[in-house]
Amino acid sequence: MRKKMMAGNWKMNKSIGEVGSFFQSFSDECGLAKNRAVSDKVDILFAAPYLLLDSCRAAASGKGITIAAQNVHFEKNGAFTGEISLAMLAEIGIRSTLVGHSERRQYFGETNESVAKKAAAAQGAGFLTIVCIGETLAERNSSRTESVLEEQLAPVFSAVRGLTNIVIAYEPVWAIGTGVSASSDQAQTAHEFVRKQARARFGGSADMLRILYGGSANPNNIGELLSKPDIDGALVGGASLKPEEFASMVSAALKA
Ligand code: PGA
Repeated sequence: MRKKMMAGNWKMNKSIGEVGSFFQSFSDECGLAKNRAVSDKVDILFAAPYLLLDSCRAAASGKGITIAAQNVHFEKNGAFTGEISLAMLAEIGIRSTLVGHSERRQYFGETNESVAKKAAAAQGAGFLTIVCIGETLAERNSSRTESVLEEQLAPVFSAVRGLTNIVIAYEPVWAIGTGVSASSDQAQTAHEFVRKQARARFGGSADMLRILYGGSANPNNIGELLSKPDIDGALVGGASLKPEEFASMVSAALKA
């Protein structure tokens, strides 16, 4: 059985001043203080902006919530102005990160190769590493979804050592922030393909690989998405900014 994971991605939103009350309301809504069973059954994670990480870690401490970075550099240190290393994150108690989010690929020039290096470096440092992949609308419309996913996954699978600490987030670019989610069948087809690719490379351990769906996941569609056999959770942008909405998605994951 794969443990479900509900991951929020705050992107470039919120301030340090908002962190305390967010986690207070979120954990009250989820009953995290009273009910340890929630975090036993569902992994809950928030990827926050760098400057908020320390406050998030402090506010979430003891609640069974993991705090992650949204990006990291693959080199250990050096002349990389504006970048943050894995060791810097570890020093403030952060041991999880996203890599390859489509906004990083689209707006900041990340390539399949740089994403693979980040995934390998993060896994090598013992980080829980959520690798984001997904096709654009043009790629889907020209029936290239599977070849694009394969091109994105292949360098990552070559660079990492097995699937330990790796989570894949399938996020069709056309569904991110648009309010138009992939249908549960479209998502399931893509997730099944991802697992098949993982199985071809890593054998049976692919059965334990968690594959999250991302792209306009919300309290209304999450139950249906999670009913599919290869959808193991979600990476949630907009709906993770509101404690009550994300808490209701966590409840759906508890029931799934
Ligand atoms: P969204 O973002 O839920 O706002 O579509 C998802 C993501 O980019 O991770």
